[in-house]
Amino acid sequence: MDELKGKTIILGISGGIAAYKSAELIRLFKKEGAEVWVVMTKSAKEFVSPLTFETLSGNPVYSDMFLDSSIFNLQSSISMPHIDLAKRSDLFIVAPATANIIGKFANGIADDLLSTLYLSAISPVLIAPAMNNNMYANPVVQENIKRLKGFNINFVEPGFGELACGDKGEGRLAELDTILSKAKWLLAAKKDLSGKTVLVTAGPTHEAIDPVRVISNSSSGKMGYAVASAARRRGAEVILISGPTSLPVPSGVRFISIKSASDMRREILKEVKKADVIIMTAAVSDFTPENYSEKKIKKEDTEGITVKLKKNPDILSEITSKLRNTQSAIRNPIIVGFALETDGIIKNAKKKLREKNLDFIVANSINGFGSNQNKVTIIDKKGNLYDIPQMSKDGVAEIILDKIVK
Ligand code: CTP
Repeated sequence: MDELKGKTIILGISGGIAAYKSAELIRLFKKEGAEVWVVMTKSAKEFVSPLTFETLSGNPVYSDMFLDSSIFNLQSSISMPHIDLAKRSDLFIVAPATANIIGKFANGIADDLLSTLYLSAISPVLIAPAMNNNMYANPVVQENIKRLKGFNINFVEPGFGELACGDKGEGRLAELDTILSKAKWLLAAKKDLSGKTVLVTAGPTHEAIDPVRVISNSSSGKMGYAVASAARRRGAEVILISGPTSLPVPSGVRFISIKSASDMRREILKEVKKADVIIMTAAVSDFTPENYSEKKIKKEDTEGITVKLKKNPDILSEITSKLRNTQSAIRNPIIVGFALETDGIIKNAKKKLREKNLDFIVANSINGFGSNQNKVTIIDKKGNLYDIPQMSKDGVAEIILDKIVK
């Protein structure tokens, strides 16, 4: 495939021993037909001479915020590298990325060309960390990585093995082939949902018994967040309505945080008319306490406690019956439900598909709860079954969106 052909890659190189591997990376990118512009940090130049990268990329190498006049004359199209390079970039890759540069990116510090370029970059960003295993394991570094992932920054995780310092562990720059394929994957991103609005629900709901106690379930929200970020990457306007989770909000989505099923119902009803696609991954609580105690229930006041539950409204059934029956509906959205089952997975999912009047239902067992992986079967309204092998929730999200687009 020609994902890199004619594309402009800005390759940031920071100061680690793995900087020598960037030379080979440039060669691989060029072989695939990409144009490569290199930006080095000051310490990267201690490891490899800019001349190496200049020769391999065929372009001047930048490192300073303020160009010296000889480069300016050579490459007059670039006068302010942090802006001009950012504008021409289809993909911004930093390999190797040190703990220092990751820390700067995560905290908005812009004190050299590479960190300033990061702030002005509008293209996708891919970071390939490389450092000593203990540095990589340091909680500060891990927090910074987590923060950047929350901003939708892509990472190629480092490999395990012998490090330049003689230690063994996780911290080696990922294999160059892995970096290359991740770059291709990012550039191949289909924009087949642009112009569409996708409403996604995710996570559990909390049904309060008193100010401190809730009834809930162990949904992590990972499936819904994966769908929301995949839809965003494919060009959709995304509204993510989510119950309580510990996940970072995917960048570029409109995020509405809710607690209970009735909050979720209220917010969905406000937003639903805007949606071309509705994907209900949320594990909505079916029951809620009949009575809410305004004060914390004290244990000395009672020997035992019985919480009487009443049924919550079925939000999905309510919105399908509203939308499908509205003659004046401007849009007839595609509506996707999830079915979480322990037994009779397909039979029960088909029943829900029919009764809730859906276009698709995604049947999954409780094994996917909390995990990064899921094993699902997608069923369409004609009754066709698509068994999807076990894979990452990101992968499942792409397949669900493929079916919707089709
Ligand atoms: N759902 C909903 N409102 C509810 C319960 C579920 O909108 N009160 C949605 C879920 O988001 C999901 C689908 O309906 O997309 C099916 O949810 P699931 O929990 O599998 O089924 P239920 O309809 O709740 O039936 P049961 O719990 O009895 O299996």
